[in-house]
Amino acid sequence: MTSQDATDVVPSYDVDAVRSDFPILSTTMHDKPLVFLDSAASAQKPRQVIDAVSSAYESEYANVHRGLYKISETATANYEGTRETIRKYINAERTSEIIFTRNATESINLVAYSFGREFLEEGDEVVITELEHHANIVPWQILRDEKGVVLRVAPVNDDGELIMSDFEEILGPNTKLVTVSHMSNVMGTVLPVEELIQRAHAVGAKVLLHGCQSVTHIPVDVQALGCDFYVFSGHKLYGPSGIGVLYGREELLDSMPPFMGGGDMISSVTFAKSTWANLPHKFEAGTPAIVQAIGLGAAIDYVTDLGLEAIGAHEAELLNYATQKLSSFDGLKIIGTAPNKASVLSFTLDFAHPHDIATIIDRAGVAVRAGHHCAQPLMDRMDVPATVRASIGLYNNRSDIDALAAALADVQELFG
Ligand code: ALA
Repeated sequence: MTSQDATDVVPSYDVDAVRSDFPILSTTMHDKPLVFLDSAASAQKPRQVIDAVSSAYESEYANVHRGLYKISETATANYEGTRETIRKYINAERTSEIIFTRNATESINLVAYSFGREFLEEGDEVVITELEHHANIVPWQILRDEKGVVLRVAPVNDDGELIMSDFEEILGPNTKLVTVSHMSNVMGTVLPVEELIQRAHAVGAKVLLHGCQSVTHIPVDVQALGCDFYVFSGHKLYGPSGIGVLYGREELLDSMPPFMGGGDMISSVTFAKSTWANLPHKFEAGTPAIVQAIGLGAAIDYVTDLGLEAIGAHEAELLNYATQKLSSFDGLKIIGTAPNKASVLSFTLDFAHPHDIATIIDRAGVAVRAGHHCAQPLMDRMDVPATVRASIGLYNNRSDIDALAAALADVQELFG
């Protein structure tokens, strides 16, 4: 093979073999084969994750960081092993920069409470975008109402892309934090985060990337990106729910006060005064989600074995197929047509409400999400009350898209 040939090779994997790793994909819904197109809400779990969780409960379960006996040491090693797996997955410099939380929402709230309350003053500005999930809006509104910081919103255009010139205009000497989605959960738009980070840093602002959607589709290198915080949830990454991640640069996390107080986050406690444990434990009060973390480690191993490049290529091909297929429907409008998008297809049909569509196609075994997708301001911007959202995971195939199209044809016929 010449070097030219080598660069042309698109990595791939055997989708049928992958599907057989996910027990739920061979089940039925309303007596029809399950067609799962809602991975952006929560992804299904491979046997490897289910086994890791079962085995952690069956033979290696004990509390972590506390036991002087073997299974506690094993549980601790497995729990801390996932921290290293995550460090490698997003290329953080140190495991001390990886904080376990309940989910991405808690990670953002942690930053809002700890960084926000410590470092932001009245009149300081926090910049978000019009395409944000409520998880990246509401914590900043709470902070605004408490501390008098100003929330600035960078707009998107009709395709669902961030308008860079408007974003740049919003930035200024008062901007202290830019906190944006890496990828829209509603439209799939992938934001030009390298450029955003550069611009934000140029005015001295810190940057938080909400990576819930991107971390499952796009290789992330937090050091190359240079972001200050990166957050994601385990359950969208084929791992358990109840476990999330906050990455933060060590010097920043070191300078931030604890978010919650309790066991495991202290160095010493007297009634007069307590002192804090070192990172990452300073931010992990109480017994953590031990088995969920172990399951997340298995999920990341699974994704890493397939390779994000291969996953991204597979999903891009399917998104393209789905976009073409659905575009032939009269009255169907795709919401989110940015050239740089991934894995999510939101749409409306002018003859039926999204909730009715999702309910009807459920009878054909097709699972999609319909509603505002926790992004009501974006619905207002795109001038729709709600959308139907089909989202693609690493296990979907063309038959899934064909089943969606066939079910939509039934809806069309029903509404005439
Ligand atoms: N944030 C998840 C979604 O987009 C729940 O569906």
